[in-house]
Amino acid sequence: MKKIPKDFLWGASTSAYQVEGATDADGKGKSIQDLIPQKPGVSNFATTSDHYNHWKEDVKLMAEMGFKSYRFSISWPRIMPDLTGNINEKGMKFYENLIDELIKYKIEPIVTIWHFDLPLEIHNAGGWDERDLAIPLFVKYSKALFERFDGKVKYWLTINEQNMMIMFGHVLGLVQVTDGYKHLKNMYQQNHHMMIAQAEVMKMYHDNFGKKGGKIGPAPNIATVYPKTCDPKDVNAAYRTSAIRNWLYLDLSVKGIYNQTVWQWFESNNIAPTIKDGDMEIIAQGKPDFIGYNYYNSMTVEKPEVKELVLKGSDQQLAFDIPDVFKAFKNDKLQQTKFRWGVDPSGFLQTSRELNDRYGLPILLTENGLGHEDVLTKDGKIHDEYRINFLREHIKLIPQILTEGIDLIGYNPWSAIDLVSTHQGIKKRYGFVYIDRDDEGNGDFKRYKKDSFHWYKKVISSDGEDLD
Ligand code: BG6
Repeated sequence: MKKIPKDFLWGASTSAYQVEGATDADGKGKSIQDLIPQKPGVSNFATTSDHYNHWKEDVKLMAEMGFKSYRFSISWPRIMPDLTGNINEKGMKFYENLIDELIKYKIEPIVTIWHFDLPLEIHNAGGWDERDLAIPLFVKYSKALFERFDGKVKYWLTINEQNMMIMFGHVLGLVQVTDGYKHLKNMYQQNHHMMIAQAEVMKMYHDNFGKKGGKIGPAPNIATVYPKTCDPKDVNAAYRTSAIRNWLYLDLSVKGIYNQTVWQWFESNNIAPTIKDGDMEIIAQGKPDFIGYNYYNSMTVEKPEVKELVLKGSDQQLAFDIPDVFKAFKNDKLQQTKFRWGVDPSGFLQTSRELNDRYGLPILLTENGLGHEDVLTKDGKIHDEYRINFLREHIKLIPQILTEGIDLIGYNPWSAIDLVSTHQGIKKRYGFVYIDRDDEGNGDFKRYKKDSFHWYKKVISSDGEDLD
């Protein structure tokens, strides 16, 4: 087995709206995440982990764990609070301080430009439906970041989980139309506009920035898709699901083309996006240097059964069956987390293989992890052996991935410190560091090192060899 190299990017991830809090501080504008209603007893994003006021302490803890990288997002509305496109200097300064502090500890900043927190003013003015509004503002925002941080930041991620925003827009906040196939048509039109925006940003970066080895890439959520059985209809469902869920986005980003399986599905349902003259040329010109991917678990499907398109977003699991494509199947070969997500380390290997076979680019794991309700003991400890077990089973496969010739350059699980989940509050914790607060807002934000903190520190210092 190949050894994990010394320059492997060991670290962890967060996103601005889930970790920072301080939603109105220092000229920040509102984002769509401030408006998404949460269920009773589920925290909103007003204070989260108060990282905005604890960033120095948090970076120190990351350094103590030996992080080689930290993947975080910059809050779009903190930098660009309104439609004027003017830049909020206080917002910039916050990230400049954070980046400088990371560099001081030799932690490589991996920066996501946009992670779910679309500025509310853009959303209210039509959001990604309005190509002439959203695309130029995204490009302007990205340019401001490159101008300020080029050289200091060598790894840029354009858009976090664009595929999840399109497929689960009803949960993540992008939906403008909720009516069955009209909803899909609308979401795929928004997707097309995001693809143009991303390509413009990648081209601009390559033309003008990153001359000292800087790299840029997308960060979708990629999961291998299994058929429920060897029934050819199930296998066909799995193939088409993977095209719609995974490859649509990366074929556009990397190859500059619409995936044919998906396009045929678009046409047969009248949901194909309108493509203007020149759009595909722009998309083809924006090429990523690497692919960031979030992998949590595999997906299993069977042949479609449902007749109608129904959008569901439940507390425990999100489901989205597409009538002529697939029906989601709960894979009984996989263990489930307390929040009913399947646990499938071998899917990490399989997903990495598929990415490598299709695109042949370096890949960077930008999320992976276990959401769990942790208990803070009276003596200030958190015994999260379930998280250690989950991470160990994934990390164990990294030498195998490398030995197969796949250029995996780093592992950045979710999340560096506890933060508020997309729709299940702070009780669903992922971090190596426990934040003392609950969903009702009790707690003093004190930081506690979990058992996984000490374990991960050992993993990093032994280059992934000591996993006990
Ligand atoms: C990823 C997102 O989908 O999964 C994160 O990029 C998110 O923002 C993470 O927090 C875990 O999902 P959840 O729903 O448990 O917060």
